[in-house]
Formats: sequence, structure tokens, C-alpha cells
Amino acid sequence: MLKNKLYIKTWGCQMNEYDSSKIADIMKNELNCKITTSVTNANILILNTCSIREKAQEKLFHQLGRWKNLKKKNPNIIIGVGGCVASQEGKKILERAYYIDIIFGPQTFHRLPKMIYKVRQFKKYLIDISFPKIEKFKFFPLSKINTVSSFVTIIEGCNKYCTYCIVPYTRGKEISRPYKDIILEIKYLATQGVREIYLLGQNVNAYKYFDKEKKEYYTFVKLLKLITKIKNIKRIRFTTNHPKHFSDELINIYKKIPQLVNFIHLPVQSGSDKILYLMKRQYNIEEYTQIIHKLRNVRPLIQISSDFIVGFPGENKEDFNKTISLILDLDLDMSFSFIYSSRPGTPASKMKDNVSIIEKKKRLYLLQYYIRQQTKKFSLKMINTIQIILVEGVSSQNYKYFGKTENNRIVFFTSSKNYIGKFVKIKIIDSNIYSLYGKFISIYDI
Ligand code: SAH
Ligand code: SF4
Ligand code: F3S
Repeated sequence: MLKNKLYIKTWGCQMNEYDSSKIADIMKNELNCKITTSVTNANILILNTCSIREKAQEKLFHQLGRWKNLKKKNPNIIIGVGGCVASQEGKKILERAYYIDIIFGPQTFHRLPKMIYKVRQFKKYLIDISFPKIEKFKFFPLSKINTVSSFVTIIEGCNKYCTYCIVPYTRGKEISRPYKDIILEIKYLATQGVREIYLLGQNVNAYKYFDKEKKEYYTFVKLLKLITKIKNIKRIRFTTNHPKHFSDELINIYKKIPQLVNFIHLPVQSGSDKILYLMKRQYNIEEYTQIIHKLRNVRPLIQISSDFIVGFPGENKEDFNKTISLILDLDLDMSFSFIYSSRPGTPASKMKDNVSIIEKKKRLYLLQYYIRQQTKKFSLKMINTIQIILVEGVSSQNYKYFGKTENNRIVFFTSSKNYIGKFVKIKIIDSNIYSLYGKFISIYDI
């Protein structure tokens, strides 16, 4: 019998990583697939792609070009392209890469085993980039987990249609997973040793599920309350949030739920109201600032990170300077920043892009300088403090173990005992910008 060996390569966001781990689970379960990290050992090659910024297509064909040679040597190899580029480009991918067998989207990867079966039987390519509503989640098998922190997608797609963004077109409409399924998944993860849950979605705080039996809505806050009841889940993180949905109710819940970490990623994109309007972000700087102030009232030590786009069409120096001021005024921590990339079919792609690439690069460089200074400042402040970390694994460096602080920094430390899966107190003794080094103090029971 044919032995299936699967190699998966993943690009893009954490939702894509979560999807890839589920693809692996499904393939193990239904096709008895072995997962391999060596592409030359595999007979099923899957690429889970991302199209958030430019060069996605070039990157895809570059990768496929390499796999083409493998297929030449062994025509029985199955090559599948999934994710957001597949969803965006569909059949067009075949024009440049005729040797592809399967094209699937972010909402149809659970059909892969059947598709592989059919491709082998009929020797013809298959495309399925449809958007069956949250059907995929029903197909996720309960597999063995060997991590202490785990992603769980709670909401799919996006309806916001920010003018620059491709996601609503590639991932489909915003739709919340039934809360009962989410709770079941997290309960199962807890039994497998998971202690920290990372809730995922393009806008997690837009979560809204209507329970037909109870005739009531389950909001994000309600979902968080349910998760706190799950034994052994001691930390809750979530990303990404939309400022429009960051309600007072959600802010106030930070008083009541200690499992919610003192760190929030809340993308603002720009410090200029003019640009936010052109981006169709549906909030202004005053509203964003109020959210941060209110959060700090409830949790004085909470740290906030954000996403920024520089060089959006129409962004002048004054707009850009407002973004820098916002970072400093709101004392933001380690954020992500990108040069605006025109995405095909989006409203912004039709706007006049008046910022030269040199200027865009200059702005990105400056912005990243300030972000780095902020990150460094927060990391340095942590020296000589005691931090609670969840120990996640063994590090290859001299410092034997590593884990994360509440504010998302990796801490390396030595210990004669294995504390993986436990919370420990660590005294921070040194820091570079993004990671810290510490001394084990004691075990910490939450
Ligand atoms: N749903 C999240 C963001 C998801 S995409 C939100 O609304 O905040 C992650 C980040 O990629 C965005 O926050 C944005 O900063 C960046 N991004 C998205 N489209 C982009 C584009 N066309 N060009 C450059 N950066 C982009
Ligand atoms: Fe894209 Fe905007 Fe949706 Fe975020 S909220 S995924 S930026 S459209
Ligand atoms: Fe990329 Fe799609 Fe995620 S475009 S960022 S993989 S939702």
C-alpha cells in the first residue's frame, strides 16, 4: 500500500499556522499520513499561502518551481496550493504552474483527503476555493498535543473591507464558530497539558454567535467568561482585535478575569484621522486613545502593541509624524509595521499613490526605529524584576529552558529540573530588545 508522507510549508498569519496544523491532523487521521520535515521524503507537498502584501505571487511561483523538479523525478507526487493566494488566484495558478494537482482555499482544506483520492483516481487537477460556512471545524480530529500554549480560531473571515486589505476577499465573510465547539476544543487541549490559549481571528472581539436553542447571543465577553471556567487554562491571549469592537464591557472584564494577560495587540494602522478615514477603519484617533486610557485605568501595567501601515496613498509628512507621535504619546510596545502594498481589486489600489518608494522606505525605517526604542525601553525596565513565565520548552542555547512573560517576551533560563508546562518565577537579569535572560527563583502555582 502507498505510504503517504506529507510536507507542509506555511506562510502568513497565525490563523494560517493554525489551519496548517489542522491540515496535518486531518491528513494523519484520514490518509494515515506521516508528517515529514524533509521535502525530498514526501509524496504530498502542500503550500499554505498568504497574500496580505506584495510579492505573494512571485514567492509562490518561485517555491513551486523548486517543487516542479521533484515532480519531474516522481510524477506520483501530489502538489497542493492552499491559503489566501490560492483563494485569490484560483485557476490562474495553473497557467504558470500546470503541474499543480490541487488548489484549495482557507475554508476547504478539510476536503483535501477526498481531493487527493480523486486526483489519484482520475489523474486530473481539482480546484475548490469555495466558502462553505465554518464547515471545516467539524472535521478537526482530536490529535495529540505536545505544546503548553495553543491557538484556537474562534471567528473566520472579515466583513470590514478596509480599503487596502485583501483578507475579506480571500477568507470570506465574517462568521463566528459555535461557542460550544470552541469550549470543547479548549477543554480537550487542557486535558492534553495546554495551559495557555491563544484565541485567533481577524477581529476576535467581533465574535458573536446566536444560540438558537437559548435564543441569545454569545459575545466575545461571554465566551471569555466561559473559557475562565475551564480547569487548568491559566492564561488567555487573543489576536487580532478591532478598535471598533473594543467595548467598555470588554475593557471592564479585565478587572474580573486574571487569566487575561497584561498585553493587548490592538492595530491602529495610522496616527492620522485623514488616513484612517481613507483606510475605512471606522474609528478615529480620539476613540483609539480613549480605549487605551480606559484599559490602563483598569489594568495600569497593561502593555499595548499595534500594527502600522506607512505610505498609504495620500499620506503626507504631517500624517506620518502623527503616527510617530501616537506611538510615543500612548507609549506603545513592540509593534508590527509595513509599507503599504497595493492589493489587486481593493479600493485603495485605485487611489492615487503619491508617495515615492524611497520616501516610504525612509518612513518605515524611522517608524521602526521608534518602535524598537519603545520595545527596548520596556525590556530594560524588566531587569531585576520577578516575572511569572509559562515554561514552554527546551532551548538550544546555553540557557536551557524558555517560556513567555505575560507581556509576550521570551525568557531563557537554566534549571536543573524540567518545568515545562509549569508557571515559574524568574528574576530577569539581562535583556536584549525582544528576549530576556533570567534566574529561576521558584515554582509558581496559579
Ligand atoms: N484584522 C487585523 C489585521 C490583519 S492583517 C486588523 O484589522 O487589524 C495584519 C496587518 O497587515 C494589518 O494590521 C496591516 O497592518 C497589515 N496589512 C494589511 N494589508 C496590508 C497592505 N495592503 N499593505 C501593507 N500592510 C497591510
Ligand atoms: Fe483586513 Fe480590515 Fe478585516 Fe483587518 S479588519 S482583516 S485589516 S479588512
Ligand atoms: Fe495572509 Fe490570509 Fe492570514 S492573507 S495574513 S494568510 S488571512
